[in-house]
Amino acid sequence: MKSAKVFWDKAAPRYAKSPVKDEETYQKKLSITRSYFQRDWSVLEFGCGTGSTAIQHAAHVDHILATDVSPRMLEIAERKAREAGIGNIRFQEGSLETLDLAPSSFDAVLGLNILHLLEDAEGAIHRVHTLLKPGGVFVSSTALVAEMAFYWRWVIPVMQRLGFAPHVSPLSQKGLVTLLTNAGFYIDHEWRATRESVFIIAGKPLI
Ligand SMILES: C[S@@+](CC[C@H](N)C(=O)[O-])C[C@H]1O[C@@H](n2cnc3c(N)ncnc32)[C@H](O)[C@@H]1O
Repeated sequence: MKSAKVFWDKAAPRYAKSPVKDEETYQKKLSITRSYFQRDWSVLEFGCGTGSTAIQHAAHVDHILATDVSPRMLEIAERKAREAGIGNIRFQEGSLETLDLAPSSFDAVLGLNILHLLEDAEGAIHRVHTLLKPGGVFVSSTALVAEMAFYWRWVIPVMQRLGFAPHVSPLSQKGLVTLLTNAGFYIDHEWRATRESVFIIAGKPLI
């Protein structure tokens, strides 16, 4: 965890400046996510980065708890939310494992571009299931490292050794769906958003 914090703290200023790679796909994800939201919803985002997506969604729900392991990411996120005049996002440092959160307390959990960065994606998915109210949704967007071109599987470890890449777990789309369904979710929306990533809305059944 410490190394993730160190890596992402260092990456934060550059990450904040980098533009969204594919605006059309990003907007489509925002819009699909909002089609599930209700105005009185309580939302958790883990790995919120510099807060861009939480800021986009804030007006559509009651409040968002946006969390991240990197204090520098959160510093930038807080500033951006303040500048945008957003008052219903609370930012908190921590990971899913360390945050002290009550079970069944969120209507939606967002995990965007994060599951593949975790050492224990399976544990994180189980925690998300516990934190969601019955009927709640888990919105995730995940790089499918196991399905990337062969040379990435060679390049990534080299970059990691040089400190230019974080830990990544080799998830596949099928593997991720299995982790979600094994944790008790049903898959409500599954979209191969890009060649190497999948956008999934998974629901926690009402009973
Ligand atoms: C690729 S960025 C994605 C940020 C944002 N969700 C987005 O889509 O732009 C990954 C973020 O996850 C955070 N992160 C990495 N490991 C984490 C962990 N174990 N728990 C919570 N956040 C983590 C990093 O600090 C970073 O802000």
